[in-house]
Amino acid sequence: MTVTPERVTAALPCYSQRVSEERSVDFAEAEEFLDRMFAEGAAEEGERFETRLAQVRAEIRETGTYRHTPAELAYGARVAWRNSARCIGRLYWRSLRIRDRRRVTDPAAIAGECADHLRQAIRGGRIRPTVTVFAPDTPGAPGPRIRNEQLIRYAGYRFEDGSVLGDPRYTGFTEQVRRLGWRPPERKGSFDVLPLVIEAGPGEPRLFTLPPDAVVEVPLTHPDHRWFAGLGLRWHAVPAISDMPLEIGGVTYPAAPFNGWYLGTEIGARNLADAQRYDLLPVVAELMGLDTTSERTLWRDRALVELTLAVQHSFDAAGVTMADHHTESHRFLSHLEREERAGRRCPADWSWIVPPLSGGQTAVFHRYYDEPDPSERPAFLPPP
Ligand code: ARG
Repeated sequence: MTVTPERVTAALPCYSQRVSEERSVDFAEAEEFLDRMFAEGAAEEGERFETRLAQVRAEIRETGTYRHTPAELAYGARVAWRNSARCIGRLYWRSLRIRDRRRVTDPAAIAGECADHLRQAIRGGRIRPTVTVFAPDTPGAPGPRIRNEQLIRYAGYRFEDGSVLGDPRYTGFTEQVRRLGWRPPERKGSFDVLPLVIEAGPGEPRLFTLPPDAVVEVPLTHPDHRWFAGLGLRWHAVPAISDMPLEIGGVTYPAAPFNGWYLGTEIGARNLADAQRYDLLPVVAELMGLDTTSERTLWRDRALVELTLAVQHSFDAAGVTMADHHTESHRFLSHLEREERAGRRCPADWSWIVPPLSGGQTAVFHRYYDEPDPSERPAFLPPP
């Protein structure tokens, strides 16, 4: 939102009216959140529900919003993960580490915190699920935003003949950052890390290059095929989603990048394999000596397995946490059981939970799940 001088003057006679007109926090949402937090026993020792509720009510009346306590922020972020219907890795929702950076508002400092997030999350390879929470939207002042889909992503360069070098998913984004002044490396490659695009305060968003030590990547090799290394493939170790606002108790944190660890299939059976991404199945099949002239040789399927195996093998060799789809499927069902035992629903999106390789061989395939409710909160919201 932009505050023009006219709006400010018009609003001056009655500030509290202005805040309530402009996205003031809905008290009912705050109440529902606190109610659940206390009911789940997540409140601080000795804290009384009524006292906290009265405090929050008064703060909203006065300022249009309220500040979460560190315990509320942590509980809210963890439950937002627990509520993520597309995530198969939710068994560990309680272990989410929270970096409270609500006071950091300067774009360069935000970029620095994003780099620190990546360094701390990787922890020498033992990846730790982490969220960094920056300032919330308040009535009259939007919080900062990170325009990147993930903190680490690879550029996609589209050439005049229509061909693409790099990740085709990000050709549009790559053009945008180039218009904002980003200069690709002199020798463009398939895995050029894009700059962070941070919007904080008025004016153009600002660009920041991630320091190399914050971007851990794994070179891909195959346990049996020596030629595989020659493809020069690699992938980044940490998936850190940065464009999903975190909403807790009526308060929106537009910049709250979070990471887990990768599942081998995300890279091997999607990012590197999809025809609209790196499209490597024909290349791998060719090198495997498969007959690609007929679908009936199942060359795609055979190449897909080897590609995913290479990813898994390489992450293991590099000592970087990576899950496999069979193990993660079992863990997800344990999570579901635990949730049901705790008397909670565990909505899940079948089409996201079932892995893109050997779906029917995993336990998650053979059942349906509670329908996700898009109004469920706390939540990581779809990107704006
Ligand atoms: N599928 C996305 C990617 O390949 C990452 C989504 C989040 N995944 C995760 N394991 N936390 O980049």
